Amino acid sequence: MRVIIEQDSGSVARRAAGFIAALLRSNPSCVLGLATGSSPIGTYQELIRLHRDEGLDFSRATTFNLDEYAGLGPDHPQSYRFFMQRQLFDHVNVTPDHTHVPDGLATDFAVSCAAYEARIRAAGGIDLQLLGIGSDGHIAFNEPGSSLASRTRLKSLVRETIRDNARFFGSEALVPRLAVTMGVGTILDARQCLLVAAGRGKAEAIRGMVEGPITASNTASALQMHPHVCVVLDEDAASMLERREYYRDAERCQLLLEAGERQALGLPVAG
Ligand code: F6R
Repeated sequence: MRVIIEQDSGSVARRAAGFIAALLRSNPSCVLGLATGSSPIGTYQELIRLHRDEGLDFSRATTFNLDEYAGLGPDHPQSYRFFMQRQLFDHVNVTPDHTHVPDGLATDFAVSCAAYEARIRAAGGIDLQLLGIGSDGHIAFNEPGSSLASRTRLKSLVRETIRDNARFFGSEALVPRLAVTMGVGTILDARQCLLVAAGRGKAEAIRGMVEGPITASNTASALQMHPHVCVVLDEDAASMLERREYYRDAERCQLLLEAGERQALGLPVAG
């Protein structure tokens, strides 16, 4: 797991957007897995800026969102489809038919979830999955206790998530009790995962994810099994990590390697 600690949420957003932009530039037809919630908003704002100022092209990309509230349609202001339109899709040149969000109004969720998995497979799989993390360690809506091999399905939300998300709905009573969500297994199939987190409220979940045991009690900890995960944190979200200094040292080495500064690392230089 590559752990990058940035000073504040603004630099987290710029760093995360930089990874997504690099992928879009090297592979314009890439398949992006996208997230909702407050965590990725800054990243989307930076991607919109890169589209506007530097012509970052989304026209050939395909997107699949992690989840959707069950019972909310695309026009509901708290639905994740609505969120994606407002926060990203309406401001970049993504092709509408290439964007996918699970259907919150399906009459048969087993069928629509299987179809969602099939669409991901038909698109060639997800190249990069953007993730946030819940204060209980969930990724997508894989609440504590979810199978680490789970696939897209209907899932009930735990009370902590309902409480956390009440801020968007105005009251806990209005938060849907069920969501359609990619499973942990679906997320682990992505070729690359990029998780962003900011603020003290995420510090404990982040410690469990990065330094705790792999456990269904913190479904993000399953990312420890994935060979290509990058976690971008602000100081607050990183504040409970015991190996903080090691992650900073490792990142300095990584940046020197990427810059070709092999000598600075005591490595042999060709020619
Ligand atoms: C959203 C999602 C959730 C959120 C998590 C954190 O698509 O999958 O796992 O990433 O609940 O939410 P925020 O970012 O609002 O703190």
